[in-house]
Amino acid sequence: MSHLKPNPKFPTTRLRRTRQASWIRSLVSEHVLNSSDLILPIFIMDGNNRQEPVVSMPGVYCWTVDLVPSLAATAHDLGIRLLALFPRTNHELRTPNASEALNPENLVCRAVRAIKKEGIEIGTLCDVALDPYSSHGHDGILKHGSILNDETVEILCEQALVQAQAGFDVIAPSDMMDGRIGRIRATLDASGYQDIPIMAYAAKYASSFYGPFREAVSSSSILQGDKKTYQMDPANSDEAMREVALDIAEGADMVMVKPGLAYLDILYRVKTTFGMPTFVYNVSGEYAMLRAATNNDLSAYEIALMEILTAFKRAGADGILTYSAIDAAKILQRK
Ligand code: PBG
Repeated sequence: MSHLKPNPKFPTTRLRRTRQASWIRSLVSEHVLNSSDLILPIFIMDGNNRQEPVVSMPGVYCWTVDLVPSLAATAHDLGIRLLALFPRTNHELRTPNASEALNPENLVCRAVRAIKKEGIEIGTLCDVALDPYSSHGHDGILKHGSILNDETVEILCEQALVQAQAGFDVIAPSDMMDGRIGRIRATLDASGYQDIPIMAYAAKYASSFYGPFREAVSSSSILQGDKKTYQMDPANSDEAMREVALDIAEGADMVMVKPGLAYLDILYRVKTTFGMPTFVYNVSGEYAMLRAATNNDLSAYEIALMEILTAFKRAGADGILTYSAIDAAKILQRK
């Protein structure tokens, strides 16, 4: 901040003056978390009128399609503006080429139609990636031990189109194939969906913090090997800038950094470098870690949660995907 004069010294300057009471701390606070910053991921399963706990994520459930609209209404009433829907696809529907991803009657398509039918004014986002539908748990087509890039992108384009036709408001490619944003944008545009925004999982790392999510969508038992040939190496930061720059050049409207907590430097760098609407995914393993650390102490959980979410805002996030969205929105409402 070169335009600022150097601060006078102590005792003229006492930084504790603006910390002495709650009213003045709020007055000078630089970042404020709002419920409209929160994006709620929802796990969806087959069946009727059931919610099943996700064992590794205390407080998180997998819901049958018929229960999703009431959950969406609860989120809406708390001021949450966007939902991210994830399917737990039955194993008998999973195939090597993930054909269920293209089924207009698949879980996420049915769920988004159910939300829209109830007229709930909330945005809906869907991942574009094959892993919840493939029999090997990978985000792309697996052939002789490799993930095929261009062949996968062709399918992702069809998947994005199926999602747009079902009524999703935001398309979020999470697969990390090269060139997919441009091809998906062109596909959507050619089919009259030029107004549907793309939120690119732009800097997505091959992280060990996705474990509970893979359990929730029932992929952990079938995943062959790891995802290091397409998701990023946690050692890299410059490469994240190249990923984000490419996705923006190909037409991404919003970009995401994932995971969050161990990647605040990436989030900060992406926001300051590109000035794009920037999002962070506070992933399943981070949620599980916080829950484990504050086991049976709700107040400790809530205080630590608000600290974490505020830190994402401070680092540059315009919005946060978090399994704690409902909890955080309720805390904000109490304030
Ligand atoms: C699918 C996808 C994953 C997550 C979001 N979308 C898992 C993965 O890439 O293996 C992880 C989210 C979380 O851990 O909360 N491509």
